[in-house]
Amino acid sequence: MSTSTYGPGAGIADRADLVVVGAGIAGLTAALCAAESGLSVVVVNKGPSWRPDRGEQPTSTFYAQGGVAVVMPGVRSTGPDDVDSIDLHLADTLAAGSGLTDPAATRPILADGWSSVSALIGWGADFDRDADGELLRTREGGHSVRRIIHAGGDATGAAIQRALNDAVAQREADPGQSIRFLDDAIVTEVRVDDGRVTGVAYLQDDRWGVVHAPTVLLATGGAGHLYAATTNPSGATCDGIALALRAGAHVADLEFIQFHPTMLYTPGARGRRTLISEAVRGEGGRLVDAHGRSVTDGVHPMGDLAPRDVVANAVETAIELTGHPCVYLDISGVPDFERRFPTVSAGIRSAGLDPAGNRIPVVPGAHYLCGGVVTDDEARTAVDGLLAAGEVARTGLHGANRLASNSLLEGLVMGRRAAAVAVGRRDLRPAGTGPLATPGPLPILDRELLQDMMSRQVALRRSADGLAYAAETIASAPRRVPATVREVEDAALTLTAAAVIAAATARTESRGAHVRTDFPLTAEIGESHTFRLVDGEIRESGLAGITA
Ligand code: SIN
Repeated sequence: MSTSTYGPGAGIADRADLVVVGAGIAGLTAALCAAESGLSVVVVNKGPSWRPDRGEQPTSTFYAQGGVAVVMPGVRSTGPDDVDSIDLHLADTLAAGSGLTDPAATRPILADGWSSVSALIGWGADFDRDADGELLRTREGGHSVRRIIHAGGDATGAAIQRALNDAVAQREADPGQSIRFLDDAIVTEVRVDDGRVTGVAYLQDDRWGVVHAPTVLLATGGAGHLYAATTNPSGATCDGIALALRAGAHVADLEFIQFHPTMLYTPGARGRRTLISEAVRGEGGRLVDAHGRSVTDGVHPMGDLAPRDVVANAVETAIELTGHPCVYLDISGVPDFERRFPTVSAGIRSAGLDPAGNRIPVVPGAHYLCGGVVTDDEARTAVDGLLAAGEVARTGLHGANRLASNSLLEGLVMGRRAAAVAVGRRDLRPAGTGPLATPGPLPILDRELLQDMMSRQVALRRSADGLAYAAETIASAPRRVPATVREVEDAALTLTAAAVIAAATARTESRGAHVRTDFPLTAEIGESHTFRLVDGEIRESGLAGITA
C-alpha cells in the first residue's frame, strides 16, 4: 500500500482494497479473511493499539460474557432436552424476535455458525471444554437447550478478541498478507462519488487523512452511550449508523434497543457498568425483588430464562411496584460461582460488593442495538461498495429483540461474508482524487444532556409525549464543525438519537424491546420501518421487502 502526503499539509492519503472501520469480532474476522485472499486491508481503529492487559478496551466484543450460540453438528447430547438443531435455534431466534426476525436471512446465518466458529478456533480461540475435550455449553434467556459455548468461564469476548488480534499480528508480519491498523483514528466520512464508495476520511492525532478503497466495511459496534449507563465500552457511540446515514444508506429497527435485565446497579454511576451475564441465570441464578419474591413468576413459562425483553420488563415492573431502585440476582443456587464467573465476580468486587453475599443488585441497562444499517445477506448496504456487519448492521436476524449470544455468531458469519464481497470488488479502482473537504457544521448536543434525555424518555418504556420532547431537544442541538474525536462521536450520537426517536415515534405498538406505555398492544402483523437522511432530516424511506 502506498502512503503519501495528501494535499498541502492537509493529511495523509493511503490506498487499500478494503477499509474496515472497527476492530471487534466482525471487523477483524473480515480483515483476516480478506487478507488471507490477498487483499490489502486498512483497519481504522478508534481505540489505542491492541494490548490485552489494558484496563478498558474499546470493543464490545471484548466485554461479551455469555458466549457464542451455535449448533454443533454431531455433538453428544446430555439428555432428551439437549438435542439441538438449526431448526430449533431458528425457532428460538424467531420467538425472541417478536415477529420481526426474517427467517430467510436468519437460517443461513445460523447454519453457517459452526464453520465460522471452527475458523475462529483455527485462529486460536480457546473455548472451555470438559475432561473429554468436548466444548462446554450453557443456557441463556430464550434458548430451549444448552447451545452457548464460552471461554474463560464468562470471559468469552476477551478470549475471542485476543485470538483475533493475535492472528492479525501474525498477518502484519507476513508481507504476503497486508493488514494495517490506523489506531486512535475515527472515520469522519465515507467518501462516495457518483453513488459508489471511494474510501474514507479520518481524523487521527488532530490530522485529517484519506484511505482510497473500492470497499468500506462498517463494523463499528453499537449505541450504548446514547444512555447515561450501559454495559458497552466508551467507544459505542453509534459512529457507523451516522456514517451510513450520511453516505445515503438506509437504517431499520433502531427503536429496538435491547436493555439487558441484569446490569450491576451502582447508584448514580454513568458510563460502562458491569454486565452480569444471563448465563448466571442459566446456571441457577434467580431474580428476586427487594422482598425476596421472584421477579418472573407467572410472567412467562420460561421464568428467569424468558427472552431478554420479557425479563427486563419484569425487572422494571418489580422496581416500580416495590419503589426500591433495583432487584437482586440470588446466586445461592449457582455452583462454584466465582470460578465459573470470574469476570462478573471481579466486576462485583470492584464495585465494593462481595459475591459471597449471594445477592447482586441489578437493573436493566442499555446493551444492544437490534436494528441498524440495512444490509442484504452478504453485508451489502444500498450504497455501492459500503458494507456493514456486526452490531451496526441490520440483517434481519435480531428482529425486535435479539436472542442472547446470537450477536458474536452474526459478527463472525457476516464478517466472513463481507470479506468475500470485498474480494469480488478488488479490481474496482476508486477515482479517489477528490479533495479532502473538511466536514460542514453538524448538530451536536451536549453528551450528558443527550444521555439523560434518552435515559428518561427513550429507554425501556416510551410514550408520545416523551418522544416529542426528545425530538424537540434534538432539533434544538447547536451546529458546529466537529474537530475532535469526541465531537465526531457527539455528532454521531445526536444524529442516531434523532433516528431512534423517529423510529420509536413511528411504531405505535409495543413489540419486543420497544414498549409504548400509550400503545401497550402488539399489532397482529409486524413490519420493519426503514429510514434515511434527506436534506439533513431523518425520513421514513419505505424500503420494500427490507433488502439493502
Ligand atoms: C450475557 O452474557 O448475558 C450477554 C450475552 C449477549 O448479550 O448476547
